[in-house]
Amino acid sequence: MSVYRGLLPKPRTVIISLAVVALVPALAGGVSASDSSTDETALQATRGAASQGIERRVNDLLSRMTLQEKLEQIQLLSDGQVTDADAQAGVGGVFSLTDPAKINHLQHVAVEQSRLHIPILFAYDTIHGYRTVFPIPLATAGSFDPQVAFDDARFGARETAAVGIKQVYSPMVDVSHEPRWGRIAEGGGEDPYLGSVMAAARVKGDQGSDYSARDKVAASVKHLAAYGQPEGGRDYNTTDMSEQRLRNLYLPPFKAAVDAGADTAMCSFNAINGVPGCANPETETQILKHEWGFDGFIESDYTAVAELRACPPKNPDMPPCGHGVAADGPSAGALALNAGTDMEMVSTNIRDFGPQLLAQGRISINRVNDAVRRILRVKFRAGLFEHPYVDVSQADSAQLRPDAVAAARADAARAMVLLKNTDSVLPLDPAKKTAVIGPLANDQHDMLGPWWGQGRDADAVTLYDGIKAQSPGATYAQACPVVNAEPPAATNNDVCGSTAGFAAAVATANAADQVVLALGENREMSGEAASRSTLDLPGYQQQLIDAIKATGKPFAVVLFNGRPLTLGAVAQSSPAILEAWFPGVQAGNAVADVLFGKVNPGGKLPVSFPQVLGQVPIYYNHEPTGRPCDVTQKYTSRYRDLPTCSPLYEFGFGLSYTSFSVTNLRLDRTSVSPNGRVRASVDVTNTGSRRGDEVVQLYLHDPVASISQPVRRLRGFERVTLDPGAKRTITFTVDKKDFGFYDNRGSFVVEPGEIDLYAGNSSAATLTASFNVS
Ligand code: NOJ
Repeated sequence: MSVYRGLLPKPRTVIISLAVVALVPALAGGVSASDSSTDETALQATRGAASQGIERRVNDLLSRMTLQEKLEQIQLLSDGQVTDADAQAGVGGVFSLTDPAKINHLQHVAVEQSRLHIPILFAYDTIHGYRTVFPIPLATAGSFDPQVAFDDARFGARETAAVGIKQVYSPMVDVSHEPRWGRIAEGGGEDPYLGSVMAAARVKGDQGSDYSARDKVAASVKHLAAYGQPEGGRDYNTTDMSEQRLRNLYLPPFKAAVDAGADTAMCSFNAINGVPGCANPETETQILKHEWGFDGFIESDYTAVAELRACPPKNPDMPPCGHGVAADGPSAGALALNAGTDMEMVSTNIRDFGPQLLAQGRISINRVNDAVRRILRVKFRAGLFEHPYVDVSQADSAQLRPDAVAAARADAARAMVLLKNTDSVLPLDPAKKTAVIGPLANDQHDMLGPWWGQGRDADAVTLYDGIKAQSPGATYAQACPVVNAEPPAATNNDVCGSTAGFAAAVATANAADQVVLALGENREMSGEAASRSTLDLPGYQQQLIDAIKATGKPFAVVLFNGRPLTLGAVAQSSPAILEAWFPGVQAGNAVADVLFGKVNPGGKLPVSFPQVLGQVPIYYNHEPTGRPCDVTQKYTSRYRDLPTCSPLYEFGFGLSYTSFSVTNLRLDRTSVSPNGRVRASVDVTNTGSRRGDEVVQLYLHDPVASISQPVRRLRGFERVTLDPGAKRTITFTVDKKDFGFYDNRGSFVVEPGEIDLYAGNSSAATLTASFNVS
């Protein structure tokens, strides 16, 4: 069984409305939110005992601070901005500084030379590892195993804390239906339930039960909110959405992170319905702070407060600007603070204009105090007042330790998704001669993916090296180059932009028994500010597949990429496809483990792969229409030039080297009260001849509701390992937090009527059973 029972989020000891209780997702296989674990109890106990002392100390400090000192705490500066004078003045936070000696130096200045000796909170974007880079978070979500996310966060926290950083800007939990958006790589994919499970696991890994521990850091859940749904898939772009979508689709992973203990959050660049994330009282104050009882602080994203301003000619002083909800810096500072933003990153409006805004009555001292109180509370919880300094001599030895590297290898393999395997091309026989071909075949740089932290290219194992280690006679040909360019120089031909090396690659293939083709994107094509207008394999990679296919050699395509791609032509021309994502520092070893069958792949897609770009957005949890897609009929919701309604590969899909059957869905009751629960059991059997993993998935549909409900919603999953012939019964529990939903007034409602369940091994599951809520 998977291990995620111990990682369940727990509601905080705060006053929350019924609607919010109902939002707590039943993470993991139907285990109820009331189940407790040692981990959660420890968290609550630590918080309970320590909190009184902390509140006293916070209030004492606050009572002695001048206005200027308070405004300095609200300021968050980058490594490039900060000076000793800022530390002396009492700056609140510094991010992206990674040299432990420099961190200690600034901390000494803050603690010894500032009037009230308040330590600085140092922060960093440890997104999927600090030095030991794990697979990108999208890949991790595809493991359908929260232990993978937990490992990634735990080792990342250990390495990050070792240099003196006590806050990470992670987890990034933006649900996204936008494969063009480069930041889809950083999140948990298209589903709020899967995203919630992963978010909670990451927070537990980062913080443990007490993030004052030397190897723990405070987690910052981001980006609040709905940043994953930018119009046109262009990063930073605006979002317009209904209240029900915001609450049902985009907010649940934030709630799960907060329930798991996340004490900081980051407001987003984008606007929802015209209201920018860092000026949004609904998401920041009403929902996060009041409904969910979040008592930590919210930092703005990078210059997001300044970006509230109108651009020239209204605001000729300087960019950044753009949203046009504030005429000038003072207005931007007031808007952000009043909406609930507690700390300003990079831009300095709240600090600089705070005195003037207070004098004019545009902000209140209560709100200033509230922001500072939240920041100090986190600093106390982080143990910074007791242990402000880092042991510089231990910083290096904490990096790339064998246990972290071993976990990075196992977890990368666990995340890979086998998309196609005709005639059991895979696993390959390592005793045969293997040609490793393709632009990414002997590549270190791109294996780390976007947001590589302090990962170094030289640490990464290339696919060729990983394969050689297990199949010593392996040969290599690059076939075509990779250019790691950034805009405006970047093009879609940066990967495989020339066919000049194809002849040599074909010769290498001809001289081998089997071929592994390493294709995909470069790492610059994903991450922040890296949206693409096409989802095809860049450059001449399809032609490379065709050239290798023409040799008649058995071959498998291994894909390294950070987003769903349109793989129709690849699937038509290739017998086997392994989606490896950007696997991190152990890339080559992990892929070789899967290719040669040491690891039987069991990952599933955390996001739909469209057939063609024009289908985007295409996602399994869409609402129905009055004219459901039917390709045999004209007047239905379809494309006239596409003979299908489906994605190429659906959410939750993934193959194995063995086969499984999921059968016998049964319920313990067919009628339930709104406060009751239903247990759904299903049998999973390994019907093949190898030991392997299957992810059993439970989906729910409410066919008649006051507002149209998604055709399916994932409400439980369990990744199991079974020997050949072995059978396991999996039981999921669903209750009102599963069959209820948020309406457009923001109320959580549980309506009477039929609820349909579907069980299987992807979102196309066909086993079905129903019960009645009455
Ligand atoms: C901007 C990004 O949007 C955010 O995710 C990141 O944490 C900050 N920059 C700091 O690097």
